[in-house]
Amino acid sequence: MKNHVKDLQVNGKRVLVRCDFNVPLKNGAIRDDNRIVSALPTIKELISKGAKVILMSHLGKIDYKKSPEEVQAAKEKNNMAPIAARLAELLGQEVKFCPVTRGKVLEDMVASLNNGDVLVVQNTRYEKGESKNDSEVSHIWASLADAFVMDAFGSAHRAHSSTYGVPEILKSEGKPTAIGYLVEKEVKSLGRVISVEQKDRPYVAILGGLKVSDKIKVIDSLLKKCDKVIICGAMSYTFNKALGHTTGTSPVEDDQLDYATNCLKEANGRIVLPVDTVVADDFDDPKLIQTIDGTDIPEGMMGMDIGPKTRELFREEIAKAKTIFWNGPAGVFEKENYQAGTVSVCDSIAKNKDCFSVIGGGDSAAACKQFGYISSFSHVSTGGGASLEMIENDGHLPGIDIIEDK
Ligand code: 3PG
Repeated sequence: MKNHVKDLQVNGKRVLVRCDFNVPLKNGAIRDDNRIVSALPTIKELISKGAKVILMSHLGKIDYKKSPEEVQAAKEKNNMAPIAARLAELLGQEVKFCPVTRGKVLEDMVASLNNGDVLVVQNTRYEKGESKNDSEVSHIWASLADAFVMDAFGSAHRAHSSTYGVPEILKSEGKPTAIGYLVEKEVKSLGRVISVEQKDRPYVAILGGLKVSDKIKVIDSLLKKCDKVIICGAMSYTFNKALGHTTGTSPVEDDQLDYATNCLKEANGRIVLPVDTVVADDFDDPKLIQTIDGTDIPEGMMGMDIGPKTRELFREEIAKAKTIFWNGPAGVFEKENYQAGTVSVCDSIAKNKDCFSVIGGGDSAAACKQFGYISSFSHVSTGGGASLEMIENDGHLPGIDIIEDK
Protein backbone atom coordinates (compact mmCIF):
# COMPACT_ATOMS: atom_id res chain seq x y z
CA MET A 1 0.00 0.00 0.00
CA LYS A 2 1.34 3.44 -0.94
CA ASN A 3 1.95 6.27 1.49
CA HIS A 4 -1.04 8.66 1.29
CA VAL A 5 -1.30 12.44 1.50
CA LYS A 6 -3.67 12.05 4.45
CA ASP A 7 -0.83 10.40 6.44
CA LEU A 8 1.64 13.28 5.92
CA GLN A 9 2.55 15.70 8.74
CA VAL A 10 3.32 18.80 6.71
CA ASN A 11 2.47 21.87 8.78
CA GLY A 12 4.87 24.60 7.59
CA LYS A 13 6.52 22.24 5.09
CA ARG A 14 6.97 22.86 1.37
CA VAL A 15 5.00 20.15 -0.45
CA LEU A 16 5.48 19.73 -4.18
CA VAL A 17 2.37 18.20 -5.76
CA ARG A 18 2.54 16.85 -9.31
CA CYS A 19 -0.94 17.36 -10.79
CA ASP A 20 -2.19 16.68 -14.30
CA PHE A 21 -3.50 20.09 -15.34
CA ASN A 22 -3.13 19.17 -19.03
CA VAL A 23 -6.59 20.50 -19.90
CA PRO A 24 -7.96 21.37 -23.34
CA LEU A 25 -7.46 25.07 -24.13
CA LYS A 26 -8.84 27.23 -26.92
CA ASN A 27 -7.23 30.65 -27.36
CA GLY A 28 -6.06 30.50 -23.76
CA ALA A 29 -9.55 29.63 -22.42
CA ILE A 30 -10.08 26.33 -20.57
CA ARG A 31 -12.66 24.16 -22.37
CA ASP A 32 -12.94 21.46 -19.68
CA ASP A 33 -11.68 21.96 -16.12
CA ASN A 34 -12.38 18.40 -14.95
CA ARG A 35 -8.71 17.64 -14.31
CA ILE A 36 -8.37 20.77 -12.14
CA VAL A 37 -11.55 19.93 -10.21
CA SER A 38 -10.28 16.36 -9.72
CA ALA A 39 -7.10 17.66 -8.03
CA LEU A 40 -9.00 19.72 -5.42
CA PRO A 41 -9.34 17.11 -2.62
CA THR A 42 -5.55 16.71 -2.35
CA ILE A 43 -4.87 20.46 -2.60
CA LYS A 44 -7.52 21.27 0.03
CA GLU A 45 -6.16 18.60 2.39
CA LEU A 46 -2.67 20.12 2.18
CA ILE A 47 -4.00 23.67 2.70
CA SER A 48 -5.92 22.53 5.78
CA LYS A 49 -2.75 20.89 7.13
CA GLY A 50 -0.86 24.19 6.86
CA ALA A 51 1.49 23.08 4.08
CA LYS A 52 3.11 25.49 1.62
CA VAL A 53 1.62 23.98 -1.52
CA ILE A 54 3.67 24.03 -4.75
CA LEU A 55 1.79 22.67 -7.76
CA MET A 56 3.51 21.49 -10.95
CA SER A 57 2.09 20.09 -14.18
CA HIS A 58 2.80 19.86 -17.86
CA LEU A 59 0.42 21.44 -20.38
CA GLY A 60 0.30 20.43 -24.05
CA LYS A 61 3.35 19.38 -26.02
CA ILE A 62 6.49 21.39 -26.80
CA ASP A 63 8.59 19.88 -29.58
CA TYR A 64 12.21 20.95 -29.10
CA LYS A 65 13.19 19.56 -32.52
CA LYS A 66 11.30 22.47 -34.10
CA SER A 67 12.72 25.98 -34.75
CA PRO A 68 13.29 28.36 -31.78
CA GLU A 69 10.34 30.48 -33.03
CA GLU A 70 8.02 27.45 -33.10
CA VAL A 71 9.19 26.37 -29.63
CA GLN A 72 8.50 29.88 -28.34
CA ALA A 73 5.03 29.85 -29.92
CA ALA A 74 4.27 26.45 -28.31
CA LYS A 75 5.39 27.81 -24.94
CA GLU A 76 3.14 30.84 -25.27
CA LYS A 77 0.21 28.63 -26.26
CA ASN A 78 0.80 26.34 -23.28
CA ASN A 79 1.33 28.93 -20.57
CA MET A 80 -0.06 27.75 -17.21
CA ALA A 81 -1.38 31.19 -16.15
CA PRO A 82 -5.07 30.39 -17.00
CA ILE A 83 -4.86 27.22 -14.91
CA ALA A 84 -3.69 29.15 -11.84
CA ALA A 85 -6.55 31.63 -12.35
CA ARG A 86 -9.16 28.87 -12.63
CA LEU A 87 -7.76 27.09 -9.57
CA ALA A 88 -8.06 30.32 -7.54
CA GLU A 89 -11.76 30.52 -8.50
CA LEU A 90 -12.35 26.89 -7.55
CA LEU A 91 -10.49 27.15 -4.23
CA GLY A 92 -11.89 30.56 -3.36
CA GLN A 93 -8.44 31.75 -2.32
CA GLU A 94 -5.46 33.47 -3.89
CA VAL A 95 -3.22 31.25 -6.01
CA LYS A 96 0.22 32.62 -6.81
CA PHE A 97 1.68 31.93 -10.25
CA CYS A 98 5.37 31.65 -11.07
CA PRO A 99 5.94 32.24 -14.82
CA VAL A 100 9.29 30.39 -14.89
CA THR A 101 10.45 26.87 -14.06
CA ARG A 102 13.80 27.66 -12.40
CA GLY A 103 15.93 30.51 -11.00
CA LYS A 104 15.70 33.28 -8.45
CA VAL A 105 12.10 34.32 -9.20
CA LEU A 106 10.88 30.79 -8.48
CA GLU A 107 13.13 30.34 -5.42
CA ASP A 108 11.99 33.66 -3.94
CA MET A 109 8.33 32.86 -4.54
CA VAL A 110 8.70 29.49 -2.80
CA ALA A 111 10.64 31.09 0.09
CA SER A 112 7.92 33.67 0.64
CA LEU A 113 5.05 31.14 0.89
CA ASN A 114 3.11 31.14 4.15
CA ASN A 115 1.40 28.07 5.60
CA GLY A 116 -1.71 27.27 3.51
CA ASP A 117 -0.53 29.29 0.49
CA VAL A 118 -0.76 27.80 -3.00
CA LEU A 119 1.72 28.40 -5.82
CA VAL A 120 1.33 27.14 -9.40
CA VAL A 121 4.64 26.83 -11.26
CA GLN A 122 4.95 27.34 -15.02
CA ASN A 123 4.49 24.35 -17.40
CA THR A 124 7.12 21.67 -16.61
CA ARG A 125 7.66 21.20 -20.35
CA TYR A 126 9.19 24.69 -20.54
CA GLU A 127 12.25 22.64 -19.50
CA LYS A 128 13.63 20.62 -22.41
CA GLY A 129 15.01 18.05 -19.93
CA GLU A 130 11.65 17.34 -18.25
CA SER A 131 10.54 14.62 -20.69
CA LYS A 132 14.00 12.98 -20.54
CA ASN A 133 13.98 12.78 -16.75
CA ASP A 134 17.03 15.05 -16.82
CA SER A 135 18.94 14.88 -13.54
CA GLU A 136 19.72 18.61 -13.33
CA VAL A 137 16.06 19.56 -13.81
CA SER A 138 14.96 16.94 -11.24
CA HIS A 139 17.49 18.26 -8.69
CA ILE A 140 16.35 21.87 -9.21
CA TRP A 141 12.72 20.97 -8.50
CA ALA A 142 13.52 18.53 -5.68
CA SER A 143 15.44 21.33 -3.91
CA LEU A 144 12.17 23.29 -3.64
CA ALA A 145 10.40 20.62 -1.57
CA ASP A 146 10.31 18.93 1.82
CA ALA A 147 7.78 16.35 0.60
CA PHE A 148 6.25 15.17 -2.69
CA VAL A 149 2.70 14.13 -3.56
CA MET A 150 1.86 12.34 -6.81
CA ASP A 151 -1.70 13.18 -7.89
CA ALA A 152 -1.18 13.33 -11.66
CA PHE A 153 -2.79 10.04 -12.61
CA GLY A 154 -2.98 11.06 -16.30
CA SER A 155 0.84 11.47 -16.36
CA ALA A 156 1.79 8.52 -14.16
CA HIS A 157 2.85 6.47 -17.22
CA ARG A 158 5.57 9.06 -17.95
CA ALA A 159 8.90 8.61 -16.13
CA HIS A 160 9.75 12.31 -16.45
CA SER A 161 11.61 14.65 -14.06
CA SER A 162 8.43 15.93 -12.41
CA THR A 163 6.77 12.51 -12.13
CA TYR A 164 9.77 10.28 -11.41
CA GLY A 165 13.09 12.10 -10.99
CA VAL A 166 11.87 14.40 -8.20
CA PRO A 167 10.31 11.71 -5.95
CA GLU A 168 13.33 9.48 -6.56
CA ILE A 169 15.68 12.21 -5.28
CA LEU A 170 13.47 13.15 -2.32
CA LYS A 171 13.20 9.50 -1.29
CA SER A 172 16.99 9.14 -1.39
CA GLU A 173 17.17 12.18 0.93
CA GLY A 174 14.76 10.55 3.39
CA LYS A 175 11.93 12.98 2.60
CA PRO A 176 8.34 11.70 2.42
CA THR A 177 6.58 10.87 -0.85
CA ALA A 178 2.88 9.98 -1.10
CA ILE A 179 0.00 9.54 -3.51
CA GLY A 180 -2.98 11.93 -3.52
CA TYR A 181 -6.75 11.32 -3.48
CA LEU A 182 -7.13 11.28 -7.26
CA VAL A 183 -4.42 8.67 -7.77
CA GLU A 184 -5.94 6.60 -4.96
CA LYS A 185 -9.38 6.70 -6.61
CA GLU A 186 -8.03 5.85 -10.07
CA VAL A 187 -5.91 2.95 -8.79
CA LYS A 188 -8.88 1.51 -6.88
CA SER A 189 -11.28 1.70 -9.85
CA LEU A 190 -8.81 0.54 -12.49
CA GLY A 191 -7.78 -2.26 -10.14
CA ARG A 192 -11.29 -3.66 -10.57
CA VAL A 193 -10.82 -4.04 -14.35
CA ILE A 194 -7.26 -5.34 -14.04
CA SER A 195 -7.99 -8.24 -11.75
CA VAL A 196 -11.57 -9.50 -12.07
CA GLU A 197 -13.08 -12.14 -9.82
CA GLN A 198 -15.46 -14.82 -11.10
CA LYS A 199 -18.45 -13.17 -9.38
CA ASP A 200 -17.81 -9.97 -11.40
CA ARG A 201 -17.99 -11.74 -14.78
CA PRO A 202 -18.80 -11.60 -17.64
CA TYR A 203 -16.08 -8.99 -18.18
CA VAL A 204 -16.52 -7.13 -21.47
CA ALA A 205 -14.01 -4.64 -22.90
CA ILE A 206 -14.89 -2.24 -25.71
CA LEU A 207 -11.95 -0.91 -27.68
CA GLY A 208 -12.30 1.68 -30.40
CA GLY A 209 -10.21 4.40 -31.94
CA LEU A 210 -7.96 4.61 -34.94
CA LYS A 211 -4.95 2.35 -34.72
CA VAL A 212 -4.48 -1.32 -33.92
CA SER A 213 -0.74 -0.64 -33.55
CA ASP A 214 -1.38 1.75 -30.62
CA LYS A 215 -3.49 -0.83 -28.84
CA ILE A 216 -1.72 -4.15 -29.46
CA LYS A 217 -0.45 -4.50 -25.90
CA VAL A 218 -3.79 -3.61 -24.37
CA ILE A 219 -5.71 -5.94 -26.73
CA ASP A 220 -3.36 -8.80 -25.75
CA SER A 221 -3.70 -7.99 -22.10
CA LEU A 222 -7.51 -7.65 -22.22
CA LEU A 223 -7.86 -10.92 -24.13
CA LYS A 224 -6.22 -12.64 -21.16
CA LYS A 225 -8.63 -11.01 -18.69
CA CYS A 226 -11.95 -10.61 -20.55
CA ASP A 227 -14.78 -12.87 -21.56
CA LYS A 228 -15.47 -10.71 -24.64
CA VAL A 229 -13.51 -7.94 -26.38
CA ILE A 230 -15.62 -5.74 -28.64
CA ILE A 231 -13.56 -4.01 -31.33
CA CYS A 232 -15.00 -0.97 -33.08
CA GLY A 233 -13.93 2.37 -34.50
CA ALA A 234 -11.42 2.51 -37.34
CA MET A 235 -9.44 -0.34 -35.73
CA SER A 236 -12.14 -2.76 -36.78
CA TYR A 237 -11.40 -2.21 -40.50
CA THR A 238 -7.95 -3.78 -40.08
CA PHE A 239 -9.56 -6.79 -38.39
CA ASN A 240 -12.22 -7.05 -41.07
CA LYS A 241 -9.61 -6.87 -43.84
CA ALA A 242 -7.70 -9.67 -42.07
CA LEU A 243 -10.92 -11.71 -42.34
CA GLY A 244 -10.94 -11.11 -46.10
CA HIS A 245 -13.50 -8.30 -46.31
CA THR A 246 -13.11 -5.25 -48.54
CA THR A 247 -12.48 -1.96 -46.74
CA GLY A 248 -12.81 0.72 -49.48
CA THR A 249 -10.90 3.85 -48.53
CA SER A 250 -11.18 3.20 -44.77
CA PRO A 251 -8.00 3.58 -42.72
CA VAL A 252 -6.37 0.15 -42.55
CA GLU A 253 -2.95 -0.78 -41.14
CA ASP A 254 -1.70 -3.35 -43.61
CA ASP A 255 1.33 -4.08 -41.44
CA GLN A 256 -1.01 -5.21 -38.65
CA LEU A 257 -2.99 -7.75 -40.72
CA ASP A 258 -0.93 -10.71 -39.49
CA TYR A 259 -1.32 -9.54 -35.92
CA ALA A 260 -5.10 -9.21 -36.39
CA THR A 261 -5.31 -12.70 -37.94
CA ASN A 262 -3.39 -14.29 -35.04
CA CYS A 263 -5.35 -12.32 -32.50
CA LEU A 264 -8.67 -13.53 -33.93
CA LYS A 265 -7.37 -17.11 -33.91
CA GLU A 266 -6.20 -16.95 -30.32
CA ALA A 267 -9.35 -15.19 -29.13
CA ASN A 268 -11.34 -18.20 -30.27
CA GLY A 269 -14.63 -16.37 -30.82
CA ARG A 270 -14.22 -13.90 -27.94
CA ILE A 271 -13.58 -10.90 -30.22
CA VAL A 272 -16.81 -9.22 -31.35
CA LEU A 273 -16.56 -7.17 -34.56
CA PRO A 274 -19.10 -4.88 -36.28
CA VAL A 275 -21.55 -6.54 -38.66
CA ASP A 276 -22.68 -3.41 -40.53
CA THR A 277 -21.13 -0.02 -41.19
CA VAL A 278 -22.09 3.59 -41.87
CA VAL A 279 -19.93 4.70 -44.81
CA ALA A 280 -19.31 7.99 -46.63
CA ASP A 281 -17.64 8.96 -49.90
CA ASP A 282 -15.55 11.69 -48.25
CA PHE A 283 -14.36 12.31 -44.68
CA ASP A 284 -14.79 16.10 -44.61
CA ASP A 285 -17.32 16.84 -47.31
CA PRO A 286 -19.55 13.82 -47.99
CA LYS A 287 -22.04 13.79 -50.87
CA LEU A 288 -23.14 10.25 -50.06
CA ILE A 289 -23.63 8.62 -46.65
CA GLN A 290 -25.17 5.15 -46.42
CA THR A 291 -25.41 2.08 -44.21
CA ILE A 292 -23.83 -1.07 -45.59
CA ASP A 293 -25.33 -4.33 -44.41
CA GLY A 294 -22.34 -6.57 -43.76
CA THR A 295 -18.72 -5.56 -43.58
CA ASP A 296 -17.68 -5.39 -47.23
CA ILE A 297 -17.16 -1.68 -47.74
CA PRO A 298 -17.50 -0.74 -51.44
CA GLU A 299 -14.71 0.87 -53.41
CA GLY A 300 -14.45 4.64 -52.90
CA MET A 301 -16.33 4.54 -49.60
CA MET A 302 -14.94 4.96 -46.10
CA GLY A 303 -16.22 3.49 -42.82
CA MET A 304 -17.31 6.23 -40.38
CA ASP A 305 -19.44 4.52 -37.71
CA ILE A 306 -21.02 1.23 -36.70
CA GLY A 307 -24.46 0.48 -38.18
CA PRO A 308 -27.79 -0.31 -36.44
CA LYS A 309 -27.32 -4.13 -36.37
CA THR A 310 -23.91 -3.67 -34.73
CA ARG A 311 -25.37 -1.26 -32.20
CA GLU A 312 -27.87 -4.00 -31.22
CA LEU A 313 -25.20 -6.71 -31.16
CA PHE A 314 -22.98 -4.61 -28.89
CA ARG A 315 -25.96 -3.68 -26.70
CA GLU A 316 -26.69 -7.40 -26.10
CA GLU A 317 -23.08 -8.11 -25.09
CA ILE A 318 -22.93 -5.03 -22.86
CA ALA A 319 -26.26 -5.93 -21.19
CA LYS A 320 -24.82 -9.29 -20.05
CA ALA A 321 -21.65 -7.81 -18.54
CA LYS A 322 -20.93 -7.36 -14.85
CA THR A 323 -17.64 -5.54 -15.49
CA ILE A 324 -16.96 -3.18 -18.41
CA PHE A 325 -13.89 -1.31 -19.59
CA TRP A 326 -14.28 1.08 -22.52
CA ASN A 327 -11.60 3.00 -24.40
CA GLY A 328 -12.00 4.57 -27.84
CA PRO A 329 -15.12 5.77 -29.69
CA ALA A 330 -17.15 3.56 -32.04
CA GLY A 331 -17.13 6.09 -34.87
CA VAL A 332 -16.20 9.64 -35.85
CA PHE A 333 -18.36 11.06 -33.04
CA GLU A 334 -17.00 14.60 -33.48
CA LYS A 335 -19.22 14.77 -36.60
CA GLU A 336 -22.97 14.71 -36.11
CA ASN A 337 -23.68 12.15 -38.87
CA TYR A 338 -21.54 9.52 -37.16
CA GLN A 339 -22.44 9.87 -33.49
CA ALA A 340 -25.07 7.14 -33.23
CA GLY A 341 -22.60 4.30 -32.58
CA THR A 342 -20.76 6.04 -29.75
CA VAL A 343 -24.02 7.32 -28.22
CA SER A 344 -25.37 3.78 -28.34
CA VAL A 345 -22.29 2.40 -26.51
CA CYS A 346 -22.74 5.11 -23.82
CA ASP A 347 -26.44 4.32 -23.55
CA SER A 348 -25.98 0.54 -23.43
CA ILE A 349 -23.47 0.83 -20.58
CA ALA A 350 -25.67 3.35 -18.74
CA LYS A 351 -28.69 0.98 -19.00
CA ASN A 352 -26.76 -1.91 -17.43
CA LYS A 353 -27.25 -0.79 -13.84
CA ASP A 354 -25.71 -3.96 -12.37
CA CYS A 355 -22.26 -3.57 -13.86
CA PHE A 356 -19.06 -1.87 -12.72
CA SER A 357 -18.06 0.34 -15.65
CA VAL A 358 -14.77 2.14 -16.22
CA ILE A 359 -14.24 4.61 -19.04
CA GLY A 360 -10.56 4.85 -19.89
CA GLY A 361 -10.16 8.60 -20.38
CA GLY A 362 -9.30 10.31 -23.67
CA ASP A 363 -11.90 10.48 -26.47
CA SER A 364 -14.37 8.10 -24.79
CA ALA A 365 -14.46 10.30 -21.68
CA ALA A 366 -14.95 13.37 -23.91
CA ALA A 367 -17.80 11.56 -25.71
CA CYS A 368 -19.48 10.58 -22.41
CA LYS A 369 -19.36 14.19 -21.35
CA GLN A 370 -20.57 15.54 -24.71
CA PHE A 371 -23.55 13.16 -24.74
CA GLY A 372 -24.44 13.70 -21.06
CA TYR A 373 -23.58 10.23 -19.70
CA ILE A 374 -20.73 11.05 -17.29
CA SER A 375 -22.72 10.31 -14.13
CA SER A 376 -23.99 6.96 -15.52
CA PHE A 377 -20.63 5.20 -15.16
CA SER A 378 -18.89 3.82 -12.09
CA HIS A 379 -15.63 5.58 -12.96
CA VAL A 380 -14.46 7.91 -15.73
CA SER A 381 -10.67 7.97 -15.64
CA THR A 382 -8.77 11.26 -16.01
CA GLY A 383 -5.99 9.39 -17.84
CA GLY A 384 -6.30 7.93 -21.36
CA GLY A 385 -2.74 6.71 -21.98
CA ALA A 386 -2.19 6.07 -18.27
CA SER A 387 -5.25 3.83 -17.85
CA LEU A 388 -4.31 1.76 -20.92
CA GLU A 389 -0.70 1.36 -19.74
CA MET A 390 -1.89 0.44 -16.28
CA ILE A 391 -3.95 -2.41 -17.76
CA GLU A 392 -1.07 -3.47 -20.04
CA ASN A 393 1.37 -3.53 -17.10
CA ASP A 394 -0.95 -5.31 -14.70
CA GLY A 395 -1.46 -2.36 -12.38
CA HIS A 396 2.02 -0.81 -12.59
CA LEU A 397 2.92 2.74 -13.65
CA PRO A 398 6.34 4.32 -13.03
CA GLY A 399 4.97 7.53 -11.46
CA ILE A 400 3.06 5.51 -8.86
CA ASP A 401 5.56 2.69 -8.33
CA ILE A 402 8.26 5.25 -7.34
CA ILE A 403 6.15 6.48 -4.38
CA GLU A 404 7.17 4.90 -1.08
CA ASP A 405 5.09 2.13 0.48
CA LYS A 406 3.57 2.51 3.92
C1 3PG B 1 -2.80 13.08 -21.20
O1 3PG B 1 -3.51 14.04 -21.54
O2 3PG B 1 -2.99 11.93 -21.64
C2 3PG B 1 -1.76 13.29 -20.15
O3 3PG B 1 -1.80 14.56 -19.62
C3 3PG B 1 -0.38 12.95 -20.68
O4 3PG B 1 -0.03 13.86 -21.69
P1 3PG B 1 1.16 13.50 -22.70
O5 3PG B 1 0.67 12.38 -23.57
O6 3PG B 1 1.42 14.77 -23.46
O7 3PG B 1 2.35 13.07 -21.86
